Amino acid sequence: MLKQADRERGAVLWFTGLSGSGKTTIAHQVEEQLLDAGVPVEILDGDVVRENLSKGLGFSEEDRNTNIRRIAFVAHLLQRNGVFVITAAISPYKAIRDEARDMIKDFVEIYADAPLEVCEGRDVKGLYAKARAGEIKGFTGIDDPYEAPENPEVTCKTDSESVEESAQKVIDKLIEMKFLTEA
Ligand code: ADX
Repeated sequence: MLKQADRERGAVLWFTGLSGSGKTTIAHQVEEQLLDAGVPVEILDGDVVRENLSKGLGFSEEDRNTNIRRIAFVAHLLQRNGVFVITAAISPYKAIRDEARDMIKDFVEIYADAPLEVCEGRDVKGLYAKARAGEIKGFTGIDDPYEAPENPEVTCKTDSESVEESAQKVIDKLIEMKFLTEA
């Protein structure tokens, strides 16, 4: 049986990766396992945040950084009150992810790593096709950069691992980092 190691200390599980890399899918699988363990969890998903907290922001570097700072700020508020917060935004720039890490400290960076060809092949939302056709400008991976993390706590190879395997890697890391214990 899993349980939260310290009820006063949550963690931020910071997913990063290209659009279509599997961040949200793994995030929901991890959420389910944490809820089963009785751990308080919130998900801050890029697509959802952009409909609410970050509504009106675009995809310039400045707007993306504002989006990420808002996500980091809310994640930190919750985390310091014992919540496990899962963020799932592309967060393509290393410097701003590191800023979030420095502020939050109880920070677990999870890289949803799949080659661009795979993400583009999935094209769940049809946006890669639009980006290739020039209908969307500044699309991450096409004509806007994605800076992969150098030392993430967890790398999920989503083109070769199952969702369950990826989620288990995250849970194992939370145990190793003593955010969770096995009773
Ligand atoms: S982030 O760069 O600020 O972290 P975020 O994760 O919130 O991005 O939003 C990414 C989602 O917005 C993508 O999954 C996609 O559905 C949509 N989107 C629309 N335009 C773009 C774009 N130019 N680049 C990347 N994603 C885009």
